[in-house]
Amino acid sequence: MAQHHITKAVIPAAGLGTRFLPATKAMPKEMLPVVDKPAIQYVVEEAVAAGLHDVLMVTGRNKYALENHFDRVYELEATLERKGDHAKLQRVHESTNIADIHYFRQGDPMGLGHAVLQARMHVGHEPFAVLLGDDLIDSRDPLLSRMIAEQTKRRASIVALLEVDPDQIHLYGAAAVEPTDEEDVVRITGLVEKPSKENAPSNLAIIGRYVLRPEVFSVLEHTEPGKGGEIQLTDALQRMAKAPEWTGGVYGVVFRGRRYDTGDKIDYIKAILQLATERDDLGPELRPWLKQFSAGLD
Ligand code: G1P
Repeated sequence: MAQHHITKAVIPAAGLGTRFLPATKAMPKEMLPVVDKPAIQYVVEEAVAAGLHDVLMVTGRNKYALENHFDRVYELEATLERKGDHAKLQRVHESTNIADIHYFRQGDPMGLGHAVLQARMHVGHEPFAVLLGDDLIDSRDPLLSRMIAEQTKRRASIVALLEVDPDQIHLYGAAAVEPTDEEDVVRITGLVEKPSKENAPSNLAIIGRYVLRPEVFSVLEHTEPGKGGEIQLTDALQRMAKAPEWTGGVYGVVFRGRRYDTGDKIDYIKAILQLATERDDLGPELRPWLKQFSAGLD
């Protein structure tokens, strides 16, 4: 297979966000602000920073706000212009010209694997990235470009792995691995979606970044519903790991940088605090307040 330069990112964004009700009753969970920016914008910025300027969002009902966020908003822009507020205008423009964003509506949300399969026509026969919105990767610890480099080198599919507490592995896809000649890269010999602690092959969890070969589409097409009755990307990758002769196999890049989980309430609150305390405009006031506040907790 000829090697292509990777340019496309797929961002599944069709989830209902029920963990954040009622906030997500009329608003997509991807629009929840992490400090002052919607979670989805961090993810698109990460794709662009890794050179992926062509973004396909797989959306569903109730997701219009996502399209609006990445579009012009003339009335607001005109008002800010009249006031000469260029700093705020700049904030508005940041998400408008960021990338070529395409949208595909997934009629029936049948799982992550099904969402990725919807990208088939758009992606074609090139390797591509998948970024899940619940995981935010600190821009100071580039993961995606590392994965892209590894994909180019090995011509395999690449997933991001993170060592998690064994008590948490049931929340993730878990990998059985073998070492390679690179310290942060492992060869994946098996994958299990959300195993119990007892049945987990390791405590290496898939976090929401993938760089996949297009063969994944034909595998997904024949992947039966798995855990939770959904078509699981993990199950398709398991089959690819077992058939390296035509899929190139699957490797994992073990991430040791900063990651923020915004998928549930506690982690979302932690992510906001972590990011806000580090910001120049908020940190100096927030840090001493937080110390004082936490000293008063028992
Ligand atoms: C999905 C994947 C899982 C992966 C996780 C990473 O699960 O199915 O393999 O570990 O994302 O965040 P979800 O969190 O969407 O249930």
